Amino acid sequence: MSVAKEAAALIKEHLAIKSPKTAIILGSGLGGFVAKLKDKKIFKYKDMGNFPESSVEGHRGELIYGTLEGKEIICVNGRVHLYEGHSPTNIAEAIHSLKELGVKQLIVTNAAGSLNKKIAPGSLMLITDHINFSGRNPLVGKNDDDYGTRFPSLNDAYTPRLLEKMKEIAKRKKIKVCEGVYFMVLGPNFETAAEVRMFGQLGGDAVGCSTVPEVIAAKHCSMDVLGISVITNYGAGLMHNTPSHEETLREAAAASDNLIKLLTAFIKEEG
Ligand code: HPA
Repeated sequence: MSVAKEAAALIKEHLAIKSPKTAIILGSGLGGFVAKLKDKKIFKYKDMGNFPESSVEGHRGELIYGTLEGKEIICVNGRVHLYEGHSPTNIAEAIHSLKELGVKQLIVTNAAGSLNKKIAPGSLMLITDHINFSGRNPLVGKNDDDYGTRFPSLNDAYTPRLLEKMKEIAKRKKIKVCEGVYFMVLGPNFETAAEVRMFGQLGGDAVGCSTVPEVIAAKHCSMDVLGISVITNYGAGLMHNTPSHEETLREAAAASDNLIKLLTAFIKEEG
């Protein structure tokens, strides 16, 4: 049995999973969302042999299954990053295990640095597209045709219908959001001021070290995707500033109330 199928069978048994349409990957400092779930069941990655565990503060390492507004949902609370030394294949396997559990749409959230002076810390940015500058890809290696084609298109990687839906919800709830392109680097260091300048010129609006591998793997296996960045800091030099992980966690926590409101409404209407 494949790693993904084995993991899915184990998770299904532990959490008595029925048929969740939506899974959500929670970024740095966004674990507060979990408190909103009802009938929660928690599965710790460390109880599962080959599922990768996050080592980053602010990322907890659990899979939580519960309901929100009466809709089943799986939360990945504690994503893994390539800079921790995990292979991109690990990330594809984690996404495939969600696919095996019946997940049809993936919401990815992250904390990111701004590359755009108009997007201030505390902003919520709906991701319209990405630039993979990590030099890594979860689809490297033998293609598993059961999940998708060898050369998948990433046109509309962030499902336009879901993006429009979230914009409409934000308008109705009077929560300010912006839109932009997520620029992925391998990390883990914050960027130099020269890199921040260059990434902005290349078309990025926000920079971070996650999300892209998950989205590539999810699109490959035909999931719909909605992506949201919590902008936690200006990229280095953009405003004569020095970013830090403490600032990232603080700003993510401050913006998380609004993000939770948006996600709750989205799950109610689309979950
Ligand atoms: N760069 C990379 N990753 C990040 C940043 C940043 O400025 N802020 C939060 N995650």
